[in-house]
Amino acid sequence: MSASGNIEIVRATGEVRRRVAGWHAEGLSVGLVPTMGAIHEGHLALVRAAAAGSDRVVASLFVNPKQFAPGEDYSAYPRDEGRDAGLIADAGGDLLFAPSGEGVYPDGFSTSVAVQGLTEGLCGAFRPGHFEGVATVVAKLFNMVRADAAWFGEKDFQQLQVIRRLARDLDLGVEVHGVPTVRESDGLALSSRNVYLSAAERMAAPTLNRALLALADRAAEPDADIARAIREAERTIAEAGFGTVDYVAVVDRETLRPVEAPITEEARALAAAWLGKARLIDNVPVVPRGT
Ligand code: PAF
Repeated sequence: MSASGNIEIVRATGEVRRRVAGWHAEGLSVGLVPTMGAIHEGHLALVRAAAAGSDRVVASLFVNPKQFAPGEDYSAYPRDEGRDAGLIADAGGDLLFAPSGEGVYPDGFSTSVAVQGLTEGLCGAFRPGHFEGVATVVAKLFNMVRADAAWFGEKDFQQLQVIRRLARDLDLGVEVHGVPTVRESDGLALSSRNVYLSAAERMAAPTLNRALLALADRAAEPDADIARAIREAERTIAEAGFGTVDYVAVVDRETLRPVEAPITEEARALAAAWLGKARLIDNVPVVPRGT
């Protein structure tokens, strides 16, 4: 992927607010696409969706230290602002907001936003403090930019539900939209962390998606044994060469609590597993038979 476009980069909160207020004064709606950079087609789908749904698009680029648990890849996380800016411009972004660490978390910053209930299970159980870091930075970015709506990927399904709840609970005044996961042709969900995969791991990686699709298919049966189908998905993933399988689950889309058969409303099958240095996550819908 190569970038050619130019986009203005602003770093100060006062400046991004001035630009957004100017657009609002002209009667234009403003969409926000928060990112941590390492832009891939998944992010560009968010920028395109934001451009289709609003008059102007601000993308933000900030690698948020608060959402990396101790020992995670914060310092190794891929960073290339020039490349990211060009790709966002090509996809229809109008402004890139790239605040400094000090701009987001000035000295003495001591507020944290915790969304209870949705964050204890799934990835929350394996990444201590992660969703608090996400909720804190997203609340902060919403307040810094003051856009009307924001777009997030369904690949991070738990994150999307946490952010929807955050925006609703705190009346943040930003409409939250989810965008379907963009995949490689073999089904692997695009992720900034896929760059960590060796050639052999890359070959094994689509098994995560295949196992989830098979699980979703079985869980949709009215008389499904969901616990057994989950164990089989875990086995398939492990046999493909993954290391630790953090979890495989079939959950209610809103509460993220495990569901049992028969499923009467669309649910979600999710998984997270380690492949070499990369922790891969994925999820697919579970559509009950006959709907
Ligand atoms: O999904 C991401 O890239 C990040 O979690 C987000 C939403 C930009 C917050 O840092």
